[in-house]
Amino acid sequence: MLTCDEILGWLREDNPDRLASLWRAADEVRRLNVGDEVHLRGLLEISNHCRRDCAYCGIRAGRPSLARYRMTAEEILACAGAAAEFGYGTVVLQAGEDAGLTGSIIADIVAEIKFRYPLAVTLSLGERSDEELLAWRQAGADRYLLRFETSNRDLFARIHPALPGRSRDRFEMLQRLRQMGYEIGSGVMCGIPGQSYEDLAEDVLLFARLDLDMIGIGPYIPHEGTPLGAGPDDPRLPPERQAPNTELMTYKLVALARLACPQANIPSTTALATLNLASGRELGLQRGANILMPNITLTQYRRLYEIYPSKACIMETAAQCHSCMRRRIQSIGRQPGRGPGGRRCRGVATSTIELEEQR
Ligand code: 5AD
Ligand code: FES
Repeated sequence: MLTCDEILGWLREDNPDRLASLWRAADEVRRLNVGDEVHLRGLLEISNHCRRDCAYCGIRAGRPSLARYRMTAEEILACAGAAAEFGYGTVVLQAGEDAGLTGSIIADIVAEIKFRYPLAVTLSLGERSDEELLAWRQAGADRYLLRFETSNRDLFARIHPALPGRSRDRFEMLQRLRQMGYEIGSGVMCGIPGQSYEDLAEDVLLFARLDLDMIGIGPYIPHEGTPLGAGPDDPRLPPERQAPNTELMTYKLVALARLACPQANIPSTTALATLNLASGRELGLQRGANILMPNITLTQYRRLYEIYPSKACIMETAAQCHSCMRRRIQSIGRQPGRGPGGRRCRGVATSTIELEEQR
């Protein structure tokens, strides 16, 4: 297992030859543990309503000018059907923390998807009550995504105000989800103003301690309509301490996440693609990632799910994203995955790469 100092060394590394050895090691550990298949998860952004006011997020409650939408059950089922037609193994239902998507509405939709289609269902609906999470699991939901965003608790509290009178600890919620039988996914943004290199190293160690089944990592992208993105109060650290929100830093984290969690499913994310539309997704897949999440949201809703600006694929249709993703997978000599593509087994991982010797 990598030590904190080794992780920090890589996060501060800028020698291209040494970085090439990190990419090679991550790619090899990926190949040995999760193979060459790239699993496709159809990402469906079912609602942009949100009761929370995260300082970084473009769909936060405190943006009255943003038009809000919530897909109907029929629309959601039709999109899930399209995902099954495309051959995806999983549909991901993602939304802001929308109280209008009640426990029973989501439970009914999950049950109907599971009845109609051979799809794994992943939920990404924010911090919800144990009753809701249990009802959704009983309705057939397989996985849950809840990024902890940063392991620095002070920073998290600054950018993620609690609901009045309620505090829901994301780590505790991840443990509860696992007890309920969900596969659990979490992850972070990289380069949040106020986030240090040490914080990112701690994030990687935490991925391993939580034994995550899925790890999502994307660069923080400032959104003008948010307090954190607007600028003046920007609580950045001095340059030598502040983690950069760059493409390179994102690849380093993806590679280190792979080395720390050899068997995890790790997507090459849309936020990464937003920084490098031409080849960000491919480079993520070649530096530790094994998952792509083609957007299957109806085109008319996409521009309203603008959690950060210039998000990739905002004008496209599901069919366009589908062929784009297949082309990208082929271009790097990999194959689209078959079946639901869950975590293979929680057991001994293959990690034959001796990083120490290569640095
Ligand atoms: N930049 C990058 N990623 C963001 N997210 C939310 N806002 C931003 C932003 N401004 C990410 C968070 C969240 C996921 C759904 O999107 O990590 O968990
Ligand atoms: Fe949407 Fe490429 S994945 S256009």
